[in-house]
Amino acid sequence: MPPNVMMKNTGKIDIMRDITKVFADAPVNEPDRQLYFIEMSKELLADIEKNAGRKLTYDVVTFGCQMNARDSEKLSGILDKMGFEAVDSEDADYVIYNTCTVRENANNKVYGRLGGLSHAKKKNPYMRIALCGCMMQEEHVVNKLQESYRFVDLVFGTHNIFKFPELTYRVLSGEDDMIIDIWKGTNDIVEELPVNRKYAFKSGVNIMFGCDNFCSYCIVPYVRGRERSRKSADILHEIEVMAKDGVKEVMLLGQNVNSYGKGLEEDISFAKLLKEVEKIDGIERIRFMTSHPKDLSDELIDVMAASKKICRHMHLPLQSGSDEILKRMNRHYDKARYLELIAKLREKMPDIAITTDIIVGFPGESEEDFEETLDVVEKARFDSAFTFIYSKRTGTPAAKMDPGADEATVKKRFDKLLKLVQQIAAEQAATHTGETVTVLAEQRNEQDESLITGRMSNNSTVHFKGDVSCIGSIVNVHLDECKGFYYYGTQV
Ligand code: 5AD
Ligand code: SF4
Repeated sequence: MPPNVMMKNTGKIDIMRDITKVFADAPVNEPDRQLYFIEMSKELLADIEKNAGRKLTYDVVTFGCQMNARDSEKLSGILDKMGFEAVDSEDADYVIYNTCTVRENANNKVYGRLGGLSHAKKKNPYMRIALCGCMMQEEHVVNKLQESYRFVDLVFGTHNIFKFPELTYRVLSGEDDMIIDIWKGTNDIVEELPVNRKYAFKSGVNIMFGCDNFCSYCIVPYVRGRERSRKSADILHEIEVMAKDGVKEVMLLGQNVNSYGKGLEEDISFAKLLKEVEKIDGIERIRFMTSHPKDLSDELIDVMAASKKICRHMHLPLQSGSDEILKRMNRHYDKARYLELIAKLREKMPDIAITTDIIVGFPGESEEDFEETLDVVEKARFDSAFTFIYSKRTGTPAAKMDPGADEATVKKRFDKLLKLVQQIAAEQAATHTGETVTVLAEQRNEQDESLITGRMSNNSTVHFKGDVSCIGSIVNVHLDECKGFYYYGTQV
């Protein structure tokens, strides 16, 4: 009997379908269970679309880091398989916010934008809203959503993102209450669900999840859980499949890739994993993110230096140049050790770009502490740096420390640091003008259709005159002009 889809005057869509049976028939094991719910959702969606007289659309909006971007590709892959149509607009029928909570302003942005979604939902009875990602792992956030954002249909966390098909099925079947499914942690890694890559020729690959470092300011260990590495065979298999599918560049992703392999039964390190990835035919470039200075081994530097595929880029978060602050940040290295690593990297790979993250205004940071940070910036000569004002995250050890400098002083320090970072980055970039480099051509330039935009091995952006047919390939480009942090060039 075909399901009967009708509209209740509440605006909710009511599907007369034997949902109890659908759940009773569901496989118990993963990923079979989720693959089953993709199929069930597909049928349900087709019924709803018949009723609506049009295709239903989705938009996954990503906040935060590369890990979230990769998770969003997984969410999109699942929705594509169900039959939703992707759009780049928050007027979509199913809007998913994949949130970040690393700094307070990331949270505020989400609350602000939810207001807009509530208006859109009043006008569209088919509209559904889901929230996931790091912010949802915080109890106070979920409480606030339950109290003041009742129009949200689904809230889930970072540990059960693989359950998205099942949860979406429940959303589509018209459950009235906000569905909340948050796990405190997990040891499971569920593989082999569909993924929709943003680019055909490059992709992120998760090699580990979570973080065990507990830097005192950072909320990540609490919202992403304990560090878990994927088995190397699974990672390599995923990359082999990608390579056959046309992927040329992979970005190995983890909060702390240098400690990859801990806790696995096999004898593997990050450096060994890189050597294995290097052997995969079709993969031309390998990147990784993020490294922690305390675990950056000589073995890894040597593997990088000897490699033809590993890109000449190292993102190595400094956070602070002051030994005292680094100690209180629980970073397990000091200024001298950090500078030693930089010297080693530059000695073994003179063409490497080194980028970093720096926090200004950590509790108790004095003017002298800040001067130490400026000193490292001058000595390390970063090719680029992300600078952040310290943001207090409830539940972290730093949240209980005395704040120290006032807001205006911290802002002044931040501006001074930013100026120095930008000046050095521009000087570093200028040294490459006139060189011919390899560039992965990624897309047509958004402002100027006659140009193609791509990335150098060292991660710098180049806009160059060239043939559109080169998009997706690695080409040689002459760097004609440096514009501070990007270049204009010509394909040669
Ligand atoms: N306040 C400011 N910046 C932070 N980061 C992490 N936690 C905080 C915080 N509480 C920054 C660090 C990290 C980057 C991803 O975000 O510099 O490397
Ligand atoms: Fe946060 Fe430190 Fe882990 Fe990075 S290494 S995610 S800064 S706790």
